[in-house]
Amino acid sequence: MKIGVAYYPEHWDRSLWEKDADRMLATGVKLVRLAEFAWCRLEPREGEFDFTWLDEAIALFAARGMEVVLCTPTSCPPMWLYEKHPEIVHVEKDGTPTRLGIRSHRCVSNPVFLRYADRITKKMALHYANEPAVVGWQIDNELEAYQCYCGHCIAGYREWLKAKYGTVENLNRAYGNVVWSGEYTSWTQITPPYGSLPHAWQNPAYMLDFYRFCSDNVVAFSNRQAAQLRRLCPGRPVTTNVWFCGHMPDFYRQFADLDFISYDNYPATRLPQDGESCYSHAFHLDMMRGVKRKPFWIMEQLSGGKGCWMPMEKPPQPGMIKGYALQAFAHGADTVVHFRWRTAAIGAEMHWHGLLDHSDVPGRRFEEFADLCRTAQTLSDVQGADIRSDVAILFGFENEYAFQIQPQTEGYYYLEQLQRLHRAFTALGLNVDVIGQHEPLEGYRIVCAPEMYVASPGVSERLTAFADQGGTVILTARSGVKDAHNNACMSQLPGVYRQLAGVHAVEYVPIGWDSIPLQFEDGTRLDARQWCDVLEPDTAQVLARYAGDYFAGAAAVTKNRYGKGTVYYIGTVGTQPVYDRIAAGAAEEAALPMIPGLPERVELCTRTKGESTVRFLFNNDQQPKRFTLEGQEMTLAPFEMKILRG
Ligand code: GLA
Ligand code: ZN
Repeated sequence: MKIGVAYYPEHWDRSLWEKDADRMLATGVKLVRLAEFAWCRLEPREGEFDFTWLDEAIALFAARGMEVVLCTPTSCPPMWLYEKHPEIVHVEKDGTPTRLGIRSHRCVSNPVFLRYADRITKKMALHYANEPAVVGWQIDNELEAYQCYCGHCIAGYREWLKAKYGTVENLNRAYGNVVWSGEYTSWTQITPPYGSLPHAWQNPAYMLDFYRFCSDNVVAFSNRQAAQLRRLCPGRPVTTNVWFCGHMPDFYRQFADLDFISYDNYPATRLPQDGESCYSHAFHLDMMRGVKRKPFWIMEQLSGGKGCWMPMEKPPQPGMIKGYALQAFAHGADTVVHFRWRTAAIGAEMHWHGLLDHSDVPGRRFEEFADLCRTAQTLSDVQGADIRSDVAILFGFENEYAFQIQPQTEGYYYLEQLQRLHRAFTALGLNVDVIGQHEPLEGYRIVCAPEMYVASPGVSERLTAFADQGGTVILTARSGVKDAHNNACMSQLPGVYRQLAGVHAVEYVPIGWDSIPLQFEDGTRLDARQWCDVLEPDTAQVLARYAGDYFAGAAAVTKNRYGKGTVYYIGTVGTQPVYDRIAAGAAEEAALPMIPGLPERVELCTRTKGESTVRFLFNNDQQPKRFTLEGQEMTLAPFEMKILRG
């Protein structure tokens, strides 16, 4: 496991560089990430390039045996470029160009911007092609599926639609534009969804295409840079760093043509009461590994108290810096780059803390980081080890987009059930993969397919075949609802999943923040929340019924035999124990190697290399834990990771 840091030589007096490099070496830092915002120092005036300062910085790290990841600086065009070409800025939803003053306010499809971005990218790639210390590239920084309303994006959107539909008539039919007299008679009438009204007022089919287009647009931008980097600086793997933001590009497409995944990981420093967000770190890590089903990097990792976009928060508690980096490793990250080496003394982010404080005096966080670096060096035997999972959870960006476009009921969000299922299986000590819905399902025993909302080619067929051959499928409400255009399917729900689930809904009742008792066959009472499919079994057996409201007595959770397999259908959004119960039942039936009785917030991950397995036991809590694991007394300090070999 390799530990790195983000470093900004351009922000620090040169007298600090060597001292920093020496301290990094002594601490055990193996890799340094550089230059993602440094365009104004790399091309201070149009066409005048200056790499000398970066060469010097790289030489200092290289001389100490450290590797470098270089970033293309295209998220921050320099002021001379904005002055000369003000038209390169991102345009807001109300049609006004973004004002300068922060960062990333360029339109990634503006041809003038692209010309300059190509040039700086190519210059850097060529310049560093023979620098062995440069081991990889990060494209731009935290690219999002920007919703830009500039003329180029509008023209691009029309072209994208033309390629998809061929004629305006086809598009009108696909969108159902007859509603509200929205039929186009020419491509030029098509605009992105301007204005201040919420997106929910727009045609959902049109909106889903707009989200898809925005995602494709940024994917095209990063692929363009990747091609230049690969051609001019061969042999260096290329990535881009993503995060879970409001406008996520489709990560499966985003990384399809990049060499490896990287992800920015900032776990909350203040632990939530219900523990949900604690397990969500593990969920996000499993999801990022699942994008390519390969080891991945953390390109930015929590190092100090957050602050700057928000008032300052608590710093990482003792144990978090080491524990969260090792947690990432347990879930398949093989490199973790901390953000950042030292807290900025200048600029907007001076309160987003790094490993060292402004004083430059190593403190508690730094000592813990040094300890992490020492531990990381003892893990080379596990580097590259597999993570084999019997359980998979399917994710689809089109579902995420469609739920954003049309909120289903108060408090409902797509990820909740994925996370609850993930938590339920994780709490049993099982590895879980979170994978794209198009991935092959071979090798899994249980596949959770929550909220299969928007139809996607081949997905229901593959789930059906998986169950038929003996797999267990866990389906939930809001499946089979939409066709691929995001129009409603005219069949009783769960539509294409009805036969598989052996059940259908005679009515559905969105209940928002209310809850209704849910009674299981053995008398256990739990809660149904947010959504109630009022179910009538075709072939399924009833596991739980609603015990309230006018549909009391109707089925809510069912289990069906399909072919050689089993299919659960959860017709509501339950509280956590609903998922725990179903997960435990399914895992037991599938005879998976569960470890029941792990205390809450204790996670167990297993990595396998050849015949040997290594288990990672992590306490994601500020309380110590004492419990028995397979007959052995275990104690875990707050945020401690125990690594058990053998
Ligand atoms: C993101 C960015 C960084 C920095 C941090 C902290 O992850 O990529 O450049 O801004 O947030 O705010
Ligand atoms: Zn634009």
